[in-house]
Amino acid sequence: MSVIQVHDKKFQPYIGEQQLQERIREISAALSNDLKGKKPLFIAILNGSFMFAADVFKNLTIEAEISFIKLVSYKGTKSTGNVVTSIGLDEDLYGRTVVILEDIVDTGKTLSQFLPQLEHQQPEKLLIASLLTKPEAMKYPIKIDYLGFSVPNKFLLGYGLDYDGLGRNLPEIYQLVE
Ligand code: HPA
Ligand code: MG
Repeated sequence: MSVIQVHDKKFQPYIGEQQLQERIREISAALSNDLKGKKPLFIAILNGSFMFAADVFKNLTIEAEISFIKLVSYKGTKSTGNVVTSIGLDEDLYGRTVVILEDIVDTGKTLSQFLPQLEHQQPEKLLIASLLTKPEAMKYPIKIDYLGFSVPNKFLLGYGLDYDGLGRNLPEIYQLVE
C-alpha cells in the first residue's frame, strides 16, 4: 500500500484490510451474541455502507434479514427545514429488532433527522452499527451501539467511501494527504 491519487487529491493508507476485517469480525460476533433469537432486520444505508454491510452480514452466525435503503435530503418549507426521506424501505419495523448499518457518522445530521421516522414505526429495538465516526465533527449526537473505529476529522476514502464518486472499491481505507 502506498500513496494513491484520485481525481486531483492524494491519499495515504490509513486502516489496512486485515485490521478492517478483524474489527468487522468482532462486531459481527458481538451482534450474533447480543441478538440471538431476535431475527434482526439490518438496514444498510446506501451508497457508502455497501461493503461494511456485506462483510458484517456474512460474518453473522444468527438468522437475520437485510434491506438496503437510500436517504434523500431535500429542502422543506421554512417551518419543516430540511427533510430526510428514505427510498426502498418496504419492511414493517413494528416489534422488530432493527440494526442500522452506516459507513460513517460524522455530523450526525442526516441520521438525527431520519431515526425518529424509524422510531415512529415502533421497532422493539433500534440499534446503530457504524464502521467509522468522527467525534470532532459530531453536531447532532448519535449513540452508536457498535462502532468500528473513531477517527480524526479528516477526509477518508475507500471501503465504500468515495471522493466524488471514485474510490469505493478500495479494500482498505485511505486518508487525504494535506
Ligand atoms: N469520506 C467520504 N465520504 C464521507 C466522509 C469521508 O471522510 N465523511 C462523510 N462522508
Ligand atoms: Mg460521498
